[in-house]
Amino acid sequence: MVLRRELLRGVVGAMAGTWLGACGADGRSPTWGRFRRGVATGDPRADAVVFWTHLAEAVGDEPLRLLVATDEALRDVVASRELVAFESAGHTVRAEVDGLPPGRTLYYAFETVRGERSAVGRTRTAGEGEVPSVRLAVLSCASYAHGFFHVYRNVSQVTNLDAVLHLGDFIYEVADGFYGSLRAYDPPHECRSLDDYRRRHAHYRLDPDLVALLGMHPLVATWDDHEHANDAWPGGSPWHDEATEGPWAERLRASTRAYAEWMPLGSVEPLWRSLRFGDLVELFVLDTRLQRDRPPADEREARAPGRSMLGEGQRRWLFEGLRASRARWKLVAGAVQFSPHPEFWNLDAWDGWAVERDALLELVASERIEGVVFLCGDGHKSFAQDVPLDRRTYDPATGRGSVAVELMTPAVSSPNLFGAEARAFEAMVRAASPETKFVDAEHRGWLWLEITPERLLAEHRFVEDVERPDGGRERVAARFEVRHGEPWLRRTGP
Ligand SMILES: [Fe+2]
Repeated sequence: MVLRRELLRGVVGAMAGTWLGACGADGRSPTWGRFRRGVATGDPRADAVVFWTHLAEAVGDEPLRLLVATDEALRDVVASRELVAFESAGHTVRAEVDGLPPGRTLYYAFETVRGERSAVGRTRTAGEGEVPSVRLAVLSCASYAHGFFHVYRNVSQVTNLDAVLHLGDFIYEVADGFYGSLRAYDPPHECRSLDDYRRRHAHYRLDPDLVALLGMHPLVATWDDHEHANDAWPGGSPWHDEATEGPWAERLRASTRAYAEWMPLGSVEPLWRSLRFGDLVELFVLDTRLQRDRPPADEREARAPGRSMLGEGQRRWLFEGLRASRARWKLVAGAVQFSPHPEFWNLDAWDGWAVERDALLELVASERIEGVVFLCGDGHKSFAQDVPLDRRTYDPATGRGSVAVELMTPAVSSPNLFGAEARAFEAMVRAASPETKFVDAEHRGWLWLEITPERLLAEHRFVEDVERPDGGRERVAARFEVRHGEPWLRRTGP
C-alpha cells in the first residue's frame, strides 16, 4: 500500500505545472489568482467534454479563452474557444466542446486577456467501439462541516480513471453548526436565496482536495436533496416553511440555477441522461430527487400504484433506454437506494415508490436485460447486494434468482452511526436481508469500479478518519466480482 501511494504521488508530481507547479510557498494552498476555484470537466462523450471554471473578482462580463491540448504543456492544441465569464452567471464559465479525439487523456487551461492563466486541468474523452475496460470512482455526500475531503484527494491521485461519478449531496445547504461543526461554512446561515447557494458552491470550491479532484478527472454528477434542501421533492422540503421562508418554488429555482452554474454538466433540464463508454458501458444517470411525486405518509401509501419516483418523461426514457441499449453493461445511477429494505424501510428512497421499483425490475427480468448494476449513495453507508425479482425464489448461497446487483457508495465525509450502534444496525440488516453481502454503517470512503466485457470488479475503499487532517490512509474493506450473465455478487476479498 505504501509503495503504491509513493508511486501515485510520483506520477502526479511528474505533472509539473498542474497542481504542484501552481502551489503556494507552503506547498499546499493553490495560488491561481483569480482562477483560485480551479477548473473542471464533466459529462465525457467520445467526441465532447464540458469544460468549467470560475473567475473571481471579475467586473461585468469578462472574455476568456479555453485551450484544449493532447499534452500538458498545451503545445499540441486540439481545440480553443473564446468564452465569456458573464456577470449574470456569477462569473462561472461552462462550455461543451466537441470535435475532440475519442478515448484520449487531454489537458486544458483558461486564460484571460490580461494573460492570467488557470491551472492546467486533465480530462478524458470516452472511448468508442470496442473499449477494453472502464474504471470509475463513485462518490456521494460531502458534508464540509464534518471533516476533510481525504476521499477526494485519494481519488484525484488515481491516474487511470475514466470518470468520477458523484451521486449527490455535493454540497450541504445547512447553517453553520447545524450539521457538523469541524469546519465553518460560508454563508454561515442556511442557504435560501440564489446568492446563498452561489456562495455555498463557491465556498466548497476553495477546498484544495475538491479542486484537485475536479482538475484531474471528468465528473458525471447528479443531485440529491442537499443541493436544494433536506428531503426535497418538487413540492417542498420538511425543512422549508413557506410561511417564514417564502415560496418553495423560488428557493428551488435558486438552488437549481446555482447548481447549473457551478457544476460541469451539459444541462439540468433534464438532469437525467445517458453516457456511453463504447460498446462496454452505458451509464444511465437518474434524477431521483426532483421528478418524484409527493413522499408517502406511510408504508401503505408507499405501495400504492400510480406513484412515480422518476416522473413520466424520465420513466419512459429509462425503460426504453434499458430495453434498447446495446452496451454490455448498463449502470443505473441514482442518488437513493433502489433495493427494498423492510428492516429499515426508507420512505425517502425507492422503498417509498415500491410499485414503480417492481415495474423496473420486471422489465429487467422479463426482457432478460443483462449486465444491470444499480449504483446509489445518499445513505452514508456501504452496501453490496444482489437484487432478486422475487425473494422467495432467490438462493442467497449461490445468488441464483438475482437479476441485478446494487452497490451503495459510502459518504465522502457525512456521518451515520458509530461503534456499537453501527455494528447493531449491520447485524440487523444481515439477519433480515440475505441478499445483502456487505454492509457498513460507519466508515467514510468511496467505491472503485473496473468493468471489462467479462466482469465488473467493485471495491469499497475506506479512509481512516475524516476529522484528522492526516486521516486519509485508505484500505479496501470489501471486494466483489460480478460475472457478465451471472447477475450476483461473488466476494473475492479482502
Ligand atoms: Fe447525504
